[in-house]
Amino acid sequence: MQTSSSQFETRAVHGGMTGVRASGSHVPVIDFSTTNPLGSVETGGLSYEELATGHDLGDGRSAVYQRLWQPGVARFEESLAGLEGTEGAVAFASGMAALAATLIAIASAGTPHVVAVRPLYGGTDHVLEGGLLGTRVTWTDAAGIAAAIEPDTGLVIVETPANPTLELLDLRKVADAAGDVPVLVDNTFATPVLQRPAEFGATLVLHSATKYLGGHGDVMGGVVAADRDWVERLRRVRALTGGLLHPMGAYLLHRGLRTLPVRVRAQQATAAVLAERLLAHPAVARVHYPGLPGQDPAGLIGRQLAGPGSIIALELAGGYDAAARFTESCELVTHAVSLGGVDSLVQHPASLTHRPVSGEAKPGAAVVRLSIGLEHVDDLTADLMAALDAAAELVGLVAPTEAEATA
Ligand SMILES: Cc1ncc(COP(=O)(O)O)c(C=O)c1O
Repeated sequence: MQTSSSQFETRAVHGGMTGVRASGSHVPVIDFSTTNPLGSVETGGLSYEELATGHDLGDGRSAVYQRLWQPGVARFEESLAGLEGTEGAVAFASGMAALAATLIAIASAGTPHVVAVRPLYGGTDHVLEGGLLGTRVTWTDAAGIAAAIEPDTGLVIVETPANPTLELLDLRKVADAAGDVPVLVDNTFATPVLQRPAEFGATLVLHSATKYLGGHGDVMGGVVAADRDWVERLRRVRALTGGLLHPMGAYLLHRGLRTLPVRVRAQQATAAVLAERLLAHPAVARVHYPGLPGQDPAGLIGRQLAGPGSIIALELAGGYDAAARFTESCELVTHAVSLGGVDSLVQHPASLTHRPVSGEAKPGAAVVRLSIGLEHVDDLTADLMAALDAAAELVGLVAPTEAEATA
């Protein structure tokens, strides 16, 4: 039996499994019910009242309706909260649905101002910049957070490592600068295996669960880990706006958490080797990877972040043309959006994930983003080096001889 004092890996495997063994199953049974028997009229009404106001499903209560409570979703939430070290978590249909619920919660509470540090995921940037959900944003850097806070600031939003160029932020300093204003950290890239923002003062920890938590590129989801008060607020928003995670998605995400530590560490080990190897190619002007010398000036790795992760951004020497040729020349590595899965992906952020980002905040045209999976490092090296050779040839740079490449 796992307990809250069990080690992280044990919690990853056994979290959210309460009652499964006693039910005679080895894994949770997926409950697809959209509605549930209510018992008496009075019990039904009280159950509805409790759940619609964000409370837990109490003993003897009916789950009423899937939009209010779903047992598999609750299992995934319990497990994720155990890994992030928060009192609870609320899961959604996608990372953007999780962000939207949080923004609706602050806007409807009369604190619609957001202080945000770029770079952020392009969709997050877009929804903040456009003010679609009734929020308004002040963009700043980490040093400007305290000065940017206004009387109606409801949230400070940061992402570290940031999408796509892996900048790192000192979360303790961010939390200190935010004071009483809640800090939301997008922890999609690090996962709780490498970084647990709540330990450094974050109030809300957001994931695009579509990425590492699911880990196989076959389930969309989002989740916010937080304290009890925020959990109830976000459940109320979810109950009213309906950005619910499907039971099948909840099952897959819960299962994904069980292998999360081994996947994240194995992908990271491969990425660390690749980052070094890619540096040596003449078509590469710069490798953005926090594990490389000089890329963690504040010394956050080891203190806040257990390792640099498995996303690498490359800046190609030949600008957009080289970046496009490289991306299109990868074969083992799939040209596709998303990240964090067992297979490696490549994409061009300025054209795709960060297309809506305006002006200087847009990633450069020469930047490509790699998500490193679980393939053998030598096979990935061969594929990426061949694609870099193609890019080098296109823009008239000399590609290395085979002997040089394998030295
Ligand atoms: C860092 C980050 N946050 C949030 C999101 C949005 O999540 P979703 O695509 O699950 O809605 C993404 C998606 O790429 C992301 O990379």
